[in-house]
Amino acid sequence: MKTSKIPSIPSSEITPEGVYLNRRQFMKLAGGAGAAALLAACGVQPTENVATPETPALLDELGEPANTFEQITHYNNYYEFTTDKEGVANLAEDFPTTPWQVEVGGLVQNPRTYDIDQLRAFPQEERIYRLRCVEAWSMVIPWTGFPLAKLLAEVEPLTSARYVAFTTKMDEEHMPGLKSPFYPWPYTEGLRLDEAMNDLALLVTGLYGKDLPPQDGAPIRLAVPWKYGFKSVKSIVKIDLVEEMPETLWNTVAANEYGFYANVNPDVHHPRWSQATERRIGETKRRETLLFNGYTEQVSALYEGMSLYSNF
Ligand code: MTE
Repeated sequence: MKTSKIPSIPSSEITPEGVYLNRRQFMKLAGGAGAAALLAACGVQPTENVATPETPALLDELGEPANTFEQITHYNNYYEFTTDKEGVANLAEDFPTTPWQVEVGGLVQNPRTYDIDQLRAFPQEERIYRLRCVEAWSMVIPWTGFPLAKLLAEVEPLTSARYVAFTTKMDEEHMPGLKSPFYPWPYTEGLRLDEAMNDLALLVTGLYGKDLPPQDGAPIRLAVPWKYGFKSVKSIVKIDLVEEMPETLWNTVAANEYGFYANVNPDVHHPRWSQATERRIGETKRRETLLFNGYTEQVSALYEGMSLYSNF
C-alpha cells in the first residue's frame, strides 16, 4: 500500500513461510459462537481450525477453509499503529475499546449515537468471508456481525442520501502510526448507499466467535468482502449519510492507485502490480483472483451499465 515509487509489493508483505504453515491445524470449531462459548467455558481456546469426524473444519461457501485465529490476528494492516503487519497485534494490545460510541447521522430522518453494547444487541450472525487485500494477499475469516443495512434502516436515510461515509478512531495516545505525516488522518472510507445496503456489507463485532481483537478493528469494523480490504475500515466512530462521493484516505493519497469503488477485479491491475493472482496466507502457491472476490452473484447487479475499468 505504501506509495513510494518502488515497483514491487512491500517486503513487509513477504512473510516467512514457516510462520504460516499451520493449515493442517484447522480448528475444531464447527458451530461458530455457540461452539466457541462452549470451548471457552472448558478453558479451550478455539484458535485452530482442525477438522475431526465430530467437528468439520470451518469452510466458506466455496469450500475454502478458514485461516487460523493466529494468522488472522498476527498479519494485519492497521496503519494507525504501524505499517509492519506482524507488529500490529503487539502495539494494539492495550488499545482501549470501551467506552465506545458510533455517531450515525448526516442525511437521515433519525440521527442517533449508539453505544457499542447497543450495536452488539443487533441480532448477530456468523459469516465466513474471503478478504482480498489490494496488495494481493488474502484470507478466509469467520466473522461475527450484522448487516450494515439493519443499522441504516433504523436511522432512515433521506432520499437525498447517495453515499455512506465512515470515519475511524484517532487516538494519538495509543496509535503511534498517527504520527506519520504521510497520511491524511483519520482513516476514512465510503460506499455508495446501494452498496452499503447490500446484505453482504457487514458490521463486524467478533471473530471466531469471540470479541474482535484490537488489531482486527475492535470494537467495530466493516467487512465488504467483494472489495479490496482497504474498504473494510476498522474502529469506526462515525457513519454519515451524504449526497456527494466522500473523500477517502487511500483515494486522497493516490487516486490513480486506489479508486473509490475498489471492487476486486483480476483484469484491472494496480499500476505497480498485477491483480490477476493472490497469495492466500498459509499457502505457498499463488491462486487466481476471482471477479468481485467470488461474490459476483450477490453484487454484479450493483454495477450494471457501469464500466469497471473507469470506475476502478
Ligand atoms: N482500517 C483502518 N482504520 N486502518 C487501516 O490501516 N487497513 C485496511 C483495512 N481497514 C486499515 C483498515 C486494509 S489495507 C486491509 S487489507 C484490512 O483492513 C485488513 O484487515 P485485517 O488486518 O483484519 O486482515
